[in-house]
Amino acid sequence: MVVASPTGLCFGVRRAIERLEGALMEYGVVHSLGSPIHNPQEVARLVGLGLKLIDKAALMPEGGVSFVRAHGVARSELEGLARRSRLVIDGTCPHVSVAQGRAESLSKEGYKVVVVGDSKHPEVRGILGYIDGESLVISGESEIDAETRYGRLGILSQTTQKESSFAAAVSKLALSSGEIKVYNTICGATIERQKSIQRLAAQVDGIIVIGGKNSANTRKLVEISESLGVPTMWIEHSGELSRGWLQGKRSIGVAAGGSTPDWLIKDLKCKLQTL
Ligand code: F3S
Repeated sequence: MVVASPTGLCFGVRRAIERLEGALMEYGVVHSLGSPIHNPQEVARLVGLGLKLIDKAALMPEGGVSFVRAHGVARSELEGLARRSRLVIDGTCPHVSVAQGRAESLSKEGYKVVVVGDSKHPEVRGILGYIDGESLVISGESEIDAETRYGRLGILSQTTQKESSFAAAVSKLALSSGEIKVYNTICGATIERQKSIQRLAAQVDGIIVIGGKNSANTRKLVEISESLGVPTMWIEHSGELSRGWLQGKRSIGVAAGGSTPDWLIKDLKCKLQTL
């Protein structure tokens, strides 16, 4: 078994979990706007410690303690939480805060803001909440119509975007626009984990990626591994391991998304050693 390096919890998710655990110990009950991180097993553990989930600021009980998820929330939601809570604990990853700030400043400078990412992802929805003017979300260059002429475009990326797909989208937009301003807001942890699975793919017969099915960065790891032609299995926990899939593979690689806690990776490694 070869484990990708680095892999697993990124700085932003680790920081959010530590803040949340500290708050739960101090206040007993904490309400998080949306899932605090994208890992169902870790969220279930935190719910066991007193975490409650709400899906909009209006549902925050008056006077309670609230938590802002690692992926951030729109400015209006943050203001709503602040009005209703006695204390807001901000778990927004600093890299996400930078992307929100870039979007806000581009919008103020009069650019139409283009976010390269997944329009349904909470991080992207949060970033859009900092833009007062025009905006557009595209998942990649295939969504750009080469015939359309854009004015001034301010472009940034979802923090977990693949570098190659961001670069391709920027190149195509540059040809369709009179002026572009680009901020590469892909975070270093994402790039490192994507490179580590590329290295891993060259060494093994199959890769198990462990991480939440709702985790964008885990999905990107799976996509990269599959694109390199390596048999890839995506699981959330070791109970989903399939003996049949392991058969005939001499060496197995393990990689984990940036929101996968250490205990789930350790559990998977133990299970693999017993099979
Ligand atoms: Fe932050 Fe990057 Fe993790 S944006 S939450 S350090 S994947």
